[in-house]
Amino acid sequence: MIRIEKLTKGYRDCEVLGNLSFHLEPGEFAFLQGKSGSGKSTLLKLLYREIEGFTGEIEIDSIPIGNLPKYKLRRKMGIIFQSFELLDRKTVLENVMLAGEVVGRDTKEIESDAHRLLERVGLKEKERKYPHQLSGGEQQRVAIVRALLNKPRILLADEPTGNLDTETALEMLQLLKELHEEEEISMLIVTHSEQVLKSLPGKIWVMEDGQVHEASKD
Ligand SMILES: Nc1ncnc2c1ncn2[C@@H]1O[C@H](COP(=O)(O)OP(=O)(O)OP(=O)(O)O)[C@@H](O)[C@H]1O
Ligand SMILES: [Mg+2]
Repeated sequence: MIRIEKLTKGYRDCEVLGNLSFHLEPGEFAFLQGKSGSGKSTLLKLLYREIEGFTGEIEIDSIPIGNLPKYKLRRKMGIIFQSFELLDRKTVLENVMLAGEVVGRDTKEIESDAHRLLERVGLKEKERKYPHQLSGGEQQRVAIVRALLNKPRILLADEPTGNLDTETALEMLQLLKELHEEEEISMLIVTHSEQVLKSLPGKIWVMEDGQVHEASKD
């Protein structure tokens, strides 16, 4: 599903990822851990083509990522950014629908998927609200729904529970886990929370010195 070989990426004079290799299998649920500044967001943004330019190979479904037009890539892959990135001037429903509009989907279809998913995460009543009228956890759920709108086969989530209390964070992860099972989506989730890692199954990858290695759970 995702195959990375010998990936190297730097910004100006500093190398962040060096000769990194990583695979995510279809239907897999995996976590990515690592110190602040180790390159986790950089890796996710390269996968989503939010940033470009690297050496090595990145393939999604056996297609080199550079050969995959962005709109096609973004129908296969959803992302929850570290800072959600919801648009303040758009309602919850509009924020979610935008993800379908930018990849050129039919409006009626987008709207019905948006309603269904917002209801699924308990936000049906908040569809017409603006992001600043929501709690942090609610905003986080909007970001999750937006990432899932195009029924991606892969979900990347960059600390999706970063600023939630532990209980809400666990609920959110549980929700992702359920969606993973219901919709058979492969997920790669960046988290720092030991509690989250311990309470949910899934491989743990650790990013260190520009590379990732698999860690054991204890
Ligand atoms: N646009 C950029 N220009 C220059 N350097 C950058 C840029 N983005 C990130 N970096 C640097 O690359 C390194 C990795 O950043 P990245 O955001 O990938 O780390 P991270 O593992 O996601 O950290 P955190 O856990 O704090 O979110 C950091 O040293 C950072 O300063
Ligand atoms: Mg980060």
